[in-house]
Amino acid sequence: MLPPLQLGSLTVDTPVVLAPMAGITNTAFRRLCREYGGGLYVNEMVTARALVERRPESLRIIRHEPDERPRSVQLYSVDPVTTGHAVRMLVEEDRADHIDLNFGCPVPKVTRKGGGSALPWKIRLFESIVATAVREAARGGIPVTVKMRKGIDEDHLTYLEAGRIARDVGVVAVALHGRTARQHYSGTADWEAIARLREALPDVPVLGNGDIWSAEDAVEMVRRTGVDGVVVGRGCQGRPWLFGDLQAAFEGCDDCYRPDLPMVSATLLRHAKMLVPYFDGDERKAMQDIRKHVAWYFKGYPVGSQLRTQLVTVESMAQLEDLLAGLDQRIGYPGADAEGPRGRAGSPKKVHLPEDWLASQELNAAQQEMIHAAEVDISGG
Ligand SMILES: Cc1cc2nc3c(=O)[nH]c(=O)nc-3n(C[C@H](O)[C@H](O)[C@H](O)COP(=O)(O)O)c2cc1C
Repeated sequence: MLPPLQLGSLTVDTPVVLAPMAGITNTAFRRLCREYGGGLYVNEMVTARALVERRPESLRIIRHEPDERPRSVQLYSVDPVTTGHAVRMLVEEDRADHIDLNFGCPVPKVTRKGGGSALPWKIRLFESIVATAVREAARGGIPVTVKMRKGIDEDHLTYLEAGRIARDVGVVAVALHGRTARQHYSGTADWEAIARLREALPDVPVLGNGDIWSAEDAVEMVRRTGVDGVVVGRGCQGRPWLFGDLQAAFEGCDDCYRPDLPMVSATLLRHAKMLVPYFDGDERKAMQDIRKHVAWYFKGYPVGSQLRTQLVTVESMAQLEDLLAGLDQRIGYPGADAEGPRGRAGSPKKVHLPEDWLASQELNAAQQEMIHAAEVDISGG
């Protein structure tokens, strides 16, 4: 049992957060997950600059349906001024009930510009971005959180200092993914680091993230680290019902979904149908999106390779319905094969950083100039 998560004025009854995932946590997937359990369901990240410029794709990303409350938006920014404008826009136009700031993204496109997981190393820049966001959000009474990694690599860890600074400037919670940028999605998440952060910040909620594949994992993370809530990413890919398991677990019950193939295929179909209005009726875009979920939904189920291939090239709703109708409806839950790790993994990667980034924790003149121009055309994880 875990008490509700208090994020400033926001109470989240089930202390579970759907991790922001670019290309995944759009309104269709969020609503599907929400049907199964309580929690906070975060957007894909949106670039502050693109939002302020009102690019249609950014406005689509932050759109919420009326049944989505609280509305949680994750911003990516490398520049305090743009951050301030974006937060002000969200507040003045009443487009969010919670704002998270992305300091965890490890993709080269982002770190090369000093953003995401590269940013907390420049600790004064980090402080300035977070403080600006908190100040602007406070005008609308909107709570702000940060989500970060341990640091750039084991020699450049930032999470303890960044966590303290974020708390000092007024965030209502700090989420830690227990990996460095260098680790990308490889190896296992370091839950000990999460425990250390929990200990270092006794006066603000700490959320643990990394390698929660089941409700038992979530309970185990809480037991081992003392966190106030968990953030779940890849574990729910193709398994929106995991949020039902998580709610049950935090209410002290070990009931779990054990979906048979008809349930999985009906959920996939429902997900696809929900994507169509998200893409303003563009069925082709909805099909492109659902294709990447197919392998996750059917992980562990005996669905033939020919059918899988057809599903990952599906072109229309009608074709999708036809293909799913061809599945053997007698196939039950396959057990462990349907569980466990899924989604991004791989090996450690060189972290691409701006020139001389690690030489000092302060910005030099060239870096200062670069960050002002750095936010265009970014998306990732
Ligand atoms: C496809 C994908 C996209 C992601 N996009 C974002 C993002 O937009 N913002 C962010 O803070 N983290 C992003 N992440 C990281 C996740 O939020 C999470 O921190 C990470 O997957 C570790 O949690 P997990 O082990 O539960 O998956 C992304 C991860 C994946 C796999």
